[in-house]
Amino acid sequence: MAYGERIPIKTRREIELMREACRHVGEILLELRELAAPGITTRELDEYAEKAISQRGVVSSFKDYDPHGLPKYPAVLCVSVNDEIVHGIPGPRELEEGDIVGLDFGVSVGGFHGDSAVTVPVGEVDPETQKLIDVTRDALLCGIEQMVPGHRLSDIGHAIQNRVESEGFSVVRVFAGHGVGEKLHEPPWIPNYGPAGRGPRLMPGMVFAIEPMVDMGRPDVRMLDDEWTAVTADGSLSAHFEHTILITEDEPEALTWIDGSH
Ligand code: MF3
Ligand code: CO
Repeated sequence: MAYGERIPIKTRREIELMREACRHVGEILLELRELAAPGITTRELDEYAEKAISQRGVVSSFKDYDPHGLPKYPAVLCVSVNDEIVHGIPGPRELEEGDIVGLDFGVSVGGFHGDSAVTVPVGEVDPETQKLIDVTRDALLCGIEQMVPGHRLSDIGHAIQNRVESEGFSVVRVFAGHGVGEKLHEPPWIPNYGPAGRGPRLMPGMVFAIEPMVDMGRPDVRMLDDEWTAVTADGSLSAHFEHTILITEDEPEALTWIDGSH
């Protein structure tokens, strides 16, 4: 996606729909993270999310998502364990004590989407692993801080990269944040790295999904045969956090932020 493509500005009504979609996403992720304990399978987490979606009368943003040239995404949740960076497909794998698990989830309300992800420890994890999680979450917050009118698009990724690399971790290059609204993925493409001061100026009414993916080792990616699951090429651990953010006249508003979620 090029920087030049038009970035949609949401109307008040559209923002209300997104607020509602994002609230459901945040609340369901909060429930899912409580369930992420040793012994549960990744498929059981997906089934829980699918039930929550139908109880709330919302629509999955991920199920049957059809990117050009790939199989449709087969679940409502992405569950990415340990060296899996993103887009892990739920299945029979049981979570084990000491794993880390990324939960990535999206729904729409009235045709407008919310998108968010969190990485959680399964039981006790070692201190360096917990640090990877904490730094990734903090890098997301550093990116969000940049999202005020007048700043440029690339200020977001620049802040994320600085935070991550100051701790000796690395930022995944091949995936990025994105505009979100009437489509799950819309312009602009928002890399989690790069120089500051480039790209369009940020304006109130823009809504972006910001999602740093951070590796303990090298940033290189390998795709599994399922054509969805992205893993670290060196087998190192990877963490992922994502919030859907509305740019306003003053402070950015994290629409998927629920107290205690992520
Ligand atoms: N948050 C993820 C992303 O923006 C969700 C994609 S899963 C998919 O890439 F199935 F929708 F592709
Ligand atoms: Co996303």
